[in-house]
Amino acid sequence: MIAIEARGLTKTYRVYQKREGVWASITGLFHREFKTVEAVRDVSFSIEEGEMVAFLGPNGAGKTTTLKLLSGLIYPTSGEAQVLGYVPWKREHAFRRRFSLVMGQKNQLWWDLPAQESFQLHREIYRIPDEQFRKRRDELTELLEVKDLVGQPVRELSLGERMRMELIAALLHSPEVLLLDEPTIGLDVVSQRRVQEFLRYYQAERKITVILTSHYMKDVEALCRRAIIINDGEIKHDGPLSEIVERLSRHKIILLQFGMNEQPENLERFGNVIEVMPPRAKIEVDRQLVPEVLAAILAEYQIADVGVQDRPLEDVIAEVFSQSNANTRDD
Ligand SMILES: Nc1ncnc2c1ncn2[C@@H]1O[C@H](COP(=O)(O)OP(=O)(O)OP(=O)(O)O)[C@@H](O)[C@H]1O
Ligand SMILES: [Mg+2]
Repeated sequence: MIAIEARGLTKTYRVYQKREGVWASITGLFHREFKTVEAVRDVSFSIEEGEMVAFLGPNGAGKTTTLKLLSGLIYPTSGEAQVLGYVPWKREHAFRRRFSLVMGQKNQLWWDLPAQESFQLHREIYRIPDEQFRKRRDELTELLEVKDLVGQPVRELSLGERMRMELIAALLHSPEVLLLDEPTIGLDVVSQRRVQEFLRYYQAERKITVILTSHYMKDVEALCRRAIIINDGEIKHDGPLSEIVERLSRHKIILLQFGMNEQPENLERFGNVIEVMPPRAKIEVDRQLVPEVLAAILAEYQIADVGVQDRPLEDVIAEVFSQSNANTRDD
């Protein structure tokens, strides 16, 4: 069964172009200039019930816009979508009770109230029966280890704790579709991992359908098997995440800090020099060659500090879609 389907979804915004200068601002009152931004263009995909799909792309790619369309927060300019058989922007009550949208950058809980009050509010909005509500709340607060914090005003909680409360609020009514827009943004590594672990457990247990956007490859790797890549409002790739992970790990970035009297020169021999900002330099190196290259550099230069990192997700995404364009594989 297909849970989420988008066909030719397009959303354009008209944005006011401010012209420069005072005179232009005055005439601008009479003669406004608009520019159209195509936030999402002809986006199509379908997601099976119980799938957990990563939605990846650089800033401004159209991820949030797509999730807003699928939640019915905004209307499309053209195209169609169905979520659990409902057209989201019709905003039927029955639909609202079956999905949830969590935005890492936005608060859905009442800031000055303890989370438990917001939970009560959700109980009423979604008309969750008392017994079920209590059971769900206790189960979720236990799983996310925030039982002792539900009575504290939300504004006093740490970002990680607040995010976990947001998740609880979003799941109290047992939605079958969960749309997660950067649920781990800004979280420290420990909180990030806790959210990941929870989501993995919960999804496996309940077999809900999830779309997850994230800039952190770690989240995505931990949770999803399929990735849809979007850039400039268009879908560039839809396939197994393993392909992307493989590309991501094919190369590593070596970060070097050179000693006081050392010049970071002639580094091209070691790999693809990404940046030289004395006393620092960044080189991209084939994963297998990292030990060898590090040894050679350390033997030749006086190095104050060294680190090895993964390539940024954004770079890999750029590579993936430049190649899929070249292969004319997008259809
Ligand atoms: N309400 C709006 N009015 C005008 N333009 C908008 C609006 N919302 C989004 N856009 C534009 O549409 C494009 C896509 O935005 P969107 O928020 O969907 O990107 P995103 O992939 O979520 O990016 P990020 O990773 O930064 O969250 C951007 O160019 C953005 O500036
Ligand atoms: Mg976004």
